Amino acid sequence: MSKDTFILGMETSCDETAVAIVKNGKEILSNVVASQIESHKRFGGVVPEIASRHHVEQITIVIEEALSRAGMTMKEMDAVAVTEGPGLVGALLIGVNAAKALAFAHGLPLIGVHHIAGHIYANRLVTEMKFPLLSLVVSGGHTELVYMKEHGSYEVIGETRDDAAGEAYDKVARTLSLPYPGGPHIDRLAAEGNPEINLPRAWLEADSFDFSFSGLKSAVINTVHNAEQRGEKIAPETLAASFQESVIDVLVTKTLKAAKQYEVEQVLLAGGVAANRGLRSRLETEFGSLEGIELVIPPLSLCTDNAAMIAAAGTIEFEKGKRGSMAMNANPGLDIENF
Ligand code: KG4
Ligand code: ZN
Repeated sequence: MSKDTFILGMETSCDETAVAIVKNGKEILSNVVASQIESHKRFGGVVPEIASRHHVEQITIVIEEALSRAGMTMKEMDAVAVTEGPGLVGALLIGVNAAKALAFAHGLPLIGVHHIAGHIYANRLVTEMKFPLLSLVVSGGHTELVYMKEHGSYEVIGETRDDAAGEAYDKVARTLSLPYPGGPHIDRLAAEGNPEINLPRAWLEADSFDFSFSGLKSAVINTVHNAEQRGEKIAPETLAASFQESVIDVLVTKTLKAAKQYEVEQVLLAGGVAANRGLRSRLETEFGSLEGIELVIPPLSLCTDNAAMIAAAGTIEFEKGKRGSMAMNANPGLDIENF
């Protein structure tokens, strides 16, 4: 009987201090997330310096909590996996240094993980992956279509040329004076309104799987300002519904086209914007009627930043024999195709 693999994962790339323990890359034994959202809310976005300070304060407590909830000790771990990048450099550094210290102190291998690979592997905590697959990654910092022919192999076939989808959600929310992070508020409002305003959709070149959301974001801001100048007020739910429909139209159409063209077995949704109810239901409708392609959507708690996903992706790297050195550094520009 082969031995079970226990990986302790750590994630500090943005505003969540997270530690998790995952068995065999699939089973969550503990998944602790200390969110800093409340501290950043009054600034309308993540303040990097504040994020780093919170990570320093929280990381040791969160590590202990993750071990305690799993009822395990460091002695039982096989490796420590940590988000090496991309993300805020000061925030990443806290996780990388904590992981290095932990790995060194316990004589364990250190595994660097790409944050987006983590988001994709959140799906393996739900169901086994089937290759080839396509993942639509939509988060605050990324919008990408990633093709995978096997475990640990990532090919970016399309990405945003400007704003990420989540970034557009947050900026539009700000225009509507909604609190940070704005995505869930727009999502809620969109469900109450009708998409009556005709907003642009950036399809780009016919054969491109790239995205662009900055034009849409500007169009929303202009629509609001023009209405204000005329002394009119557009109902926020109408604007939210129109914006959301434009985002979802492009995301879903391109994902569907890529899934067929690349003849994939599975389509995985990943990243914070995967929590969007409009996006989830539209994907379910479109893929539900399609034979042969399985759609996987993780539960909300695994869509936003967490460390179970880092441990899951780290398990694959561990099994491939990848070992980081004590010279590992935070790498905000880490490339998913070569990490
Ligand atoms: O993946 P994530 O937790 O952090 C990054 O790695 O960026 O994603 C955070 C992003 C934020 O922009 C947030 O507004 C967005 O995910 N988000 C949503 C929803 N929930 C979170 N966007 C749209 N609809 C939602 N329900
Ligand atoms: Zn993320």
